Amino acid sequence: MASCKIIYGTAWKRERTTALVVSAVLNGFRAIDTAAQLKHYREDLVGEALRILQMEHNIKREDLFVQTKYTSIGGQDHSQPLPYNPSDSVAKQVESSVMQSLANLGTSYVDSVLLHSPLDTMPHTLAAWRALMALQDSGKVKEIGICNTYDVRILKMLEEGSGRRVQIVQNRWFEGNYWDQDVCRYCRENDIQYQSFWTLSGSPNLLADASIQTIARAKGYTPAQVLFRLAQLHGITPLSGTTNERHMKEDADVENVDIRLEDENDGQVKAAVDDIRKLVWRL
Ligand SMILES: NC(=O)c1ccc[n+]([C@@H]2O[C@H](COP(=O)([O-])OP(=O)(O)OC[C@H]3O[C@@H](n4cnc5c(N)ncnc54)[C@H](OP(=O)(O)O)[C@@H]3O)[C@@H](O)[C@H]2O)c1
Repeated sequence: MASCKIIYGTAWKRERTTALVVSAVLNGFRAIDTAAQLKHYREDLVGEALRILQMEHNIKREDLFVQTKYTSIGGQDHSQPLPYNPSDSVAKQVESSVMQSLANLGTSYVDSVLLHSPLDTMPHTLAAWRALMALQDSGKVKEIGICNTYDVRILKMLEEGSGRRVQIVQNRWFEGNYWDQDVCRYCRENDIQYQSFWTLSGSPNLLADASIQTIARAKGYTPAQVLFRLAQLHGITPLSGTTNERHMKEDADVENVDIRLEDENDGQVKAAVDDIRKLVWRL
C-alpha cells in the first residue's frame, strides 16, 4: 500500500480540484482524501487527476493511497445529485455511495472508506459499519474507519457490535478540544490510524507558542513543519489541504524534518519539545 504519513485533503477546492491534486502529487504527496459529498468535495475531479497522473506522469493508481467517505443524508446538499437513493436502507446507501465513488475515481478499489460521522442512531451507525465490512471483504475497499467521533465508547461499540475494529479515525485535532486526548490515546494503544484535520488552522495559539517558535528557529523550519512533525512523531497522520506549492513541498517532506523526541543534543530544543509534549500529549 502507498505511504500514508500525510494526506492531501481535497475539500472546498471546487473546479480547482484536478489541478491541485496533480500538483500535490507532483510535489510529493502520495495520499489523497475526498468524499462522495458534492457539498464540499469534487470526487469526480480527483478521478480526473488520477487519470492525468497515470497518463502524463506515469504515477500509477497503486502508488497512491486514495480515501473517500460515505456521507449520510444529513451531511448532503439535497439540491445536488446524491450518491445513493435516500429512501434505501442505510446498508444499501453505503454500498451505492462506494460504487459511485469507484466510478467517480475511475478505480476498481479504494484504499480506505470512512463513515463521515456517526449516523443519527447507534443501530444505523452499526448498519453502515457492517456495510463497509462487506465491501472490505469483497476487496473493493482496503481499510475502513470513521470521522468526527470524539467519544471512545462509539469506537468500542462498533468493535463489540461487529467483531471488527475500526482501522482509521479522522478527527478535528485542535486546541479547542485539547487535541482530542482520549480518542488519540485509544487509537495509539489499539493500533488505529488517527488522521487529524484543523491541525494548523485550529491551533493558532500553539503555533505561536514560544516552544514551537524556539524549535523552528533553532532547526530552521517553519512552525507549521514543526507542528506537523511533532504530530507525526506521536502517531498522528495529518491532513493538509494547502493550495500553495511551497507548502505542498514542505508538507509532503515533513517526515524528514529532523526533530527528535529522545536524544536531542540541543538542550534548549529538548526543553521546548518536552514542553509541547506536556501541553499537547500530557506526557
Ligand atoms: N472528515 C471531516 O469531517 C473533515 C472536515 C474538515 C476537513 N477534512 C479533510 O481535511 C483536509 C484539510 O482540512 P483542514 O481543515 O485541516 O485545513 P486545510 O484546508 O488544510 O487548511 C489549513 C490551512 O493551513 C495552511 N497551510 C497548509 N500547509 C501549510 C504550511 N506548510 N505552512 C503554512 N500554512 C500551511 C493552508 O494555507 P495555504 O493554502 O496558503 O498553504 C490553509 O490555510 C480537508 O481538505 C479534508 O480533506 C475532513
